[in-house]
Amino acid sequence: MEQTFLMVKPDGVQRGLIGEIVKRFEQKGFQLIGCKLLVMTREQAEYHYAEHKGKDFFERLVTFITSGPVFAMVWEGEQVIALSRTMIGKTNSLEAMPGTIRGDFAVHTNLNLIHGSDSPASAEREIKNFFTEAELCRYSKVI
Ligand code: CMP
Repeated sequence: MEQTFLMVKPDGVQRGLIGEIVKRFEQKGFQLIGCKLLVMTREQAEYHYAEHKGKDFFERLVTFITSGPVFAMVWEGEQVIALSRTMIGKTNSLEAMPGTIRGDFAVHTNLNLIHGSDSPASAEREIKNFFTEAELCRYSKVI
């Protein structure tokens, strides 16, 4: 089954949106198999955003993402990577459609509430940056 890494960013945590965001993925039918509240280290943030190193917004992004607690999650389900990206909405705040998380709650491209892996390779790399294998729970749905 496909897995993805989702993370409520410091702005989402501070605005009290963890519950709203988790609710949307639960209602969609995905399964939460790991989560934790943490403050990212600079090293962890630079690794997470390595593909953006050298871009003009990189320093601002690392400073922001390490500025307070994030809520890191691993979700499992069919096509969870692509479907969760659709539910999150476009990175550019002007393109994030109503009904998506960013479209409904964010006005800034920088303060855009949530990160979601964009490919299976990114998901695997990002999950390992936050979770050990033992921290992920596999369980069958009985209801
Ligand atoms: P995220 O999905 O976490 O991935 C990279 C982040 O960089 C993105 O969300 C934005 O928060 C941030 N960012 C800031 N400026 C830009 C930009 N011009 N293009 C893309 N991402 C940006």
